[in-house]
Amino acid sequence: MKAIRLGLVGSGGMAQRRAAAFATMEGCQLTALTARNARTGAELAQRHEVELLSHWQALIERIDIDAVAICTNNDSHAPIATAALKAGKHVFLEYPLARRLDEGEALVDLAQTTGKVLRVAHPEVVSAEHRQLKKAVAFLGGLLVALFTRLTPGRGARPEVLFNLRVSGPPSLFFVYHVYPLIDLFGPAAWVEGYAHYDGLNADGAYERFVNRAVVGFVGGGTAQWTWAGGIAISRAEQYEHLVLEGGTLAYEADSWCRSTAAGAESLPPLGDDEHSLESLFLKEVRGGDGWCADLDVALEAIRIGLGAEVAAAEGRRVALS
Ligand SMILES: NC(=O)c1ccc[n+]([C@@H]2O[C@H](COP(=O)([O-])OP(=O)(O)OC[C@H]3O[C@@H](n4cnc5c(N)ncnc54)[C@H](OP(=O)(O)O)[C@@H]3O)[C@@H](O)[C@H]2O)c1
Repeated sequence: MKAIRLGLVGSGGMAQRRAAAFATMEGCQLTALTARNARTGAELAQRHEVELLSHWQALIERIDIDAVAICTNNDSHAPIATAALKAGKHVFLEYPLARRLDEGEALVDLAQTTGKVLRVAHPEVVSAEHRQLKKAVAFLGGLLVALFTRLTPGRGARPEVLFNLRVSGPPSLFFVYHVYPLIDLFGPAAWVEGYAHYDGLNADGAYERFVNRAVVGFVGGGTAQWTWAGGIAISRAEQYEHLVLEGGTLAYEADSWCRSTAAGAESLPPLGDDEHSLESLFLKEVRGGDGWCADLDVALEAIRIGLGAEVAAAEGRRVALS
């Protein structure tokens, strides 16, 4: 079996995690790395004994690279992935698919026309917990409402990146990690409403504190609401998550899902193992699997909601999605 020669873009938290995973995988040869950050780039390249290039264009032009893993911030996902697909590389891309909707739609078209794999790295694709949730939802019937609340005190390790509309997009786009599984469970959304408030917002898109809310109505019935307040005065992060279904309510408590009905409450049955890692799934897809195509539609739908909420908040109106 010929090894898939992989190039990696970025040297931050996710790049380090992906490099460690791909480097130990049979049938994969981590070949080169490109980083904007000279210090973290040199450290990562040295750790894995790979060549360090100073710009991603140079990596994409290399003929000895079959696939590219893009682990940069949200604003550069689409430009780098587009160039990589056009250069005939398979792409492993951190979520979200793109910072802007038109970029995301163009990427999906490009993946289809080039026939190269575009795997967006949503963890639910391989997760036993998500499979467990899917089974429970199927048993409990239609969705009435999904509720998600997140309250976070600080601004994170890299506030200049996360608390920045230009670089990362609105917090309603950060919800993508939670929107993706709901789309997979309940199908596409018909409309979205949004609310956004930023304190200390400056001309570069950076801000100090936010409250963001998105509400969607699903084509198949039921609504979902996400609220996140970040950089707020609270002693520790808190998160609440409920799926209210016709036959019972699922709640995420203390790191696991509980099912609650009129008859009582219980934890969902024990989890199996994750089916694959995302990295091993990607290598399989490069060798001929095609699950990434259907997932790409879910990844696109998820950014459509996050970015639709941004438009809805700015214009004070409900945005129709389908
Ligand atoms: N799958 C998951 O579980 C998961 C979890 C967290 C995050 N994510 C996603 O993963 C992505 C990266 O997150 P992270 O936490 O790793 O962020 P991070 O620690 O800020 O790392 C981002 C890296 O990308 C580099 N970079 C940014 N723009 C670039 C460009 N145009 N060209 C070359 N390098 C560039 C940064 O360089 P500098 O050091 O010079 O800024 C940094 O090395 C985000 O899109 C995030 O949404 C996924």
